[in-house]
Amino acid sequence: MSIHKKEFKKVTTHVLQEMKRNGEKISMLTAYDYTLAKIVDAAGIDVILVGDSASNVMAGHETTLPITLDQMIYHASSVIRAIDRALVVVDLPFGSYQGNSKEALFSSIRIMKESGAHSVKLEGGREVKESIARILTAGIPVMGHLGLTPQSIYKFGTYNVRAKEEEEAERLLEDAHILQECGCYALVLEKIPALLATKVAAELTIPVIGIGAGGGVDGQVLVAHDMLGLTTEFSPRFLRRYANLDETITAAVKGYITDVKSRDFPNKDEQY
Ligand code: KIV
Repeated sequence: MSIHKKEFKKVTTHVLQEMKRNGEKISMLTAYDYTLAKIVDAAGIDVILVGDSASNVMAGHETTLPITLDQMIYHASSVIRAIDRALVVVDLPFGSYQGNSKEALFSSIRIMKESGAHSVKLEGGREVKESIARILTAGIPVMGHLGLTPQSIYKFGTYNVRAKEEEEAERLLEDAHILQECGCYALVLEKIPALLATKVAAELTIPVIGIGAGGGVDGQVLVAHDMLGLTTEFSPRFLRRYANLDETITAAVKGYITDVKSRDFPNKDEQY
């Protein structure tokens, strides 16, 4: 281990718990590759999510459903090679854990063993209880995910805000408690009313991390490509863009094309 690495306190599930107790907000971003993960980690992010949103962002699929376990492991191992400090959580992809706790365990073991990741995340409430319990038997930390769960897009029909009605809100609150009782170390709440998310975070002792769930939770997660302005078509209300890399990259590529065509690049100093 280098001296540089020793300077950092590594983020663990226990550190996140401590942060919640101390009222320190948790920062979380996605990353799917070595280069971006290295930048995000060095900037001081607490948690990196190797999200199945890689299916949309990296592969151009319309939904998160097509991404495979092998592909998630490939992305996760690239991220793991880049990081010094952040906790890395990897999404169990669609079809690798639902309805079969044994498969959930095998999928999670493959992710941990083959990528070196620190934990897994899965979508759903009471219906994935058995899978969570089984994964935990192998000592693998599990993060839950409620609210808008993109792997169930064909059940919901839309990516609209979830749990606006009382019945769905009550069920979500119950599910949040079930996930905590099952042993999840943290929970993501996606696109639900801020008041409900605040209530969940206040009732649970585990950290609750929101995306489109307001500021009353214990931390925030965004898809890095969205907040960096690399993706431009996706503009939900909850998304704050911190850069406009689409414009920056377009300008750079156009400059390069111009220089190549005009024979300006390479110049004498840029050749051997
Ligand atoms: O896959 C993903 O990027 C996610 C976040 C939206 C939480 O699950």
